This record gives sequence, structure tokens and C-alpha cells, in this order.
Amino acid sequence: MLVAVTGTPGTGKTTACDVLSRRGYVVLDLDEVARQGGFVVGRDEARGSDEVDVDALRESLRVPAKIAFLRSHYAHEMGVDMAVVLRCSPAVLRARLEARGWPPEKVRENVEAEAIDVITQQAVERLPLVYEVDTTRGTPEETADAILGILRGKTQGHEPGSVDWSDEVLSWY
Ligand SMILES: Nc1ncnc2c1ncn2[C@@H]1O[C@H](COP(=O)(O)OP(=O)(O)OP(=O)(O)O)[C@@H](O)[C@H]1O
Ligand SMILES: [Mg+2]
Repeated sequence: MLVAVTGTPGTGKTTACDVLSRRGYVVLDLDEVARQGGFVVGRDEARGSDEVDVDALRESLRVPAKIAFLRSHYAHEMGVDMAVVLRCSPAVLRARLEARGWPPEKVRENVEAEAIDVITQQAVERLPLVYEVDTTRGTPEETADAILGILRGKTQGHEPGSVDWSDEVLSWY
């Protein structure tokens, strides 16, 4: 069972996956796997991030574990059984990304992507099993609990579309 933990930057993938790995689960940081496997094909200086050959990474990825969590904003593009998309209200996400000292354009680009559900839509197009977990409130432990609950069948309230920022977006106008 391979589970993608995906979502817009700042939604809490690293933080929640750190909780999962502290609890003994196998977590792969795909950026790290890509670096070690030679799948970094360039550097996006404007974004300050590596460009990964996602298709080549998917073809080569072998995970020798019964259950593993794959962490990255492109984890839903791997050959996974399920994706959990972490979500965060645009206003709170803005604050999280600004606190990183990110430039305004980069903050804006990511807040907008979150506002219009980009990653959930990409995941739903590719995968039959997609769930959402809202990290706007609550603790990282609760986010990890929600992810593990979904694996055990507690999917109610986590269906794609359960998170909807349209009221917040409309308040911008
Ligand atoms: N319920 C929650 N679950 C997860 N993170 C939370 C939660 N509440 C607040 N946070 C905070 O939100 C931030 C999320 O940052 P984090 O680095 O985990 O995001 P990310 O999705 O891994 O981003 P990136 O794609 O850039 O790696 C952290 O500062 C974390 O403490
Ligand atoms: Mg991260």
C-alpha cells in the first residue's frame, strides 16, 4: 500500500509525515529520493526548488515496504494506491508561506493554487482513491491521525470536494 501525501507547499506534508515516521511508519521524501537517484534535471531559480523528472522517478521507484507514505507536492503522480491531499485555508497558508520569508509572487502563486484546488484536481484525474485533510486548524498529530484513520476506512468527511475555499475566495472580491 503506497500512499501519496501531497498538497500545496505549506499545507503540512513534512510536518505530518514527521509525526508518521516518529510513530514508526515508512516515509519517503521524494525530493531526497530524486536527488539520490539522479532525477533532478534542473534548478528553478525563480521558485528556489529543484526540477524533478517526475515520469522517470515514477518508472524507477521501488518501495520495499508493505505500507509507505510518499511525501511531495508531486507524490500523487507516482504509482500510488491512494493520495491524501493536505489542504489549508488560503489566508492561513499565506501566513505560513510569508513566515518562511518567501517572495510575494511565490506566496501568491501557491495561495492561488490552493484556493482553486489544483492538486486535488490533478490527483482525482489520476487516481481512484483520493482524500483530503484540512490542516488549517488542529495539530500535526491530528493531521497524522486523520491520515491513518483514512487508511483504516474512516474516510467520511474527507472525500474530494470536502474542502472548499470558494466562500473565502469570493470574499476577496
Ligand atoms: N494541523 C497541522 N498539520 C500540519 N502542519 C501544521 C498544522 N498546523 C500548523 N501546521 C504548520 O504548518 C507548517 C507546514 O509546513 P510544512 O513544511 O510541513 O509544509 P509542506 O507541505 O511540507 O511544504 P513544502 O511543500 O514546501 O515542503 C508548519 O509550520 C506546521 O507546523
Ligand atoms: Mg515539505
